[in-house]
Amino acid sequence: MRRAIYPGSFDPVTNGHLDIIERGCKLFDEIIVSILVNPDKQPFFTLEERSEMLSEVLQNISQGNCTVRVDSFRGLLVNYAVAQQANVIVRGIRAISDYEYELQMALMNRRLEPGIETVFMMPAETYSYVSSRLVKEVFQLGGAITGLVPPVIERRMKEKMNQG
Ligand SMILES: Nc1ncnc2c1ncn2[C@@H]1O[C@H](COP(=O)(O)OP(=O)(O)O)[C@@H](O)[C@H]1O
Ligand SMILES: [Mg+2]
Repeated sequence: MRRAIYPGSFDPVTNGHLDIIERGCKLFDEIIVSILVNPDKQPFFTLEERSEMLSEVLQNISQGNCTVRVDSFRGLLVNYAVAQQANVIVRGIRAISDYEYELQMALMNRRLEPGIETVFMMPAETYSYVSSRLVKEVFQLGGAITGLVPPVIERRMKEKMNQG
């Protein structure tokens, strides 16, 4: 049983994240997409909203025999992974710029918990420049984000902006 954790902020989930999850499904029996609760960061969407949005869009991706579920965690990722009996952490690498930070985290996590491997996956080139941060920025300035996030996420962003 290969169980992997795919941790992140998912604020909001983008097509880049979904691309990584679909690819991960070819390697793992189960992927727990887990939202990191970071008390120091002020997210655009609440934890509940991010979780709901993830669950909604995950219904429309091709998962094969893989089970994908949504969860959240606080504190050390490796502790969470052990508690979930997962021995793999999945991370997406877009460009060299991601590599430096991801390498540091992967090596630190290995030091903390040698039994857990970090697996880096590359998205389709189309999504290699897509980040939640950029999607929010462009959207807030009135730019089109169609194709970068699923339609339901675009709708949620419109609603959220009109609220506040
Ligand atoms: N467009 C993308 N293509 C591939 N991987 C991505 C993309 N966007 C984000 N990721 C990866 O998904 C994971 C979660 O990203 P994110 O939600 O931004 O959380 P974090 O706060 O951990 O960076 C990270 O490994 C990130 O590099
Ligand atoms: Mg990020």
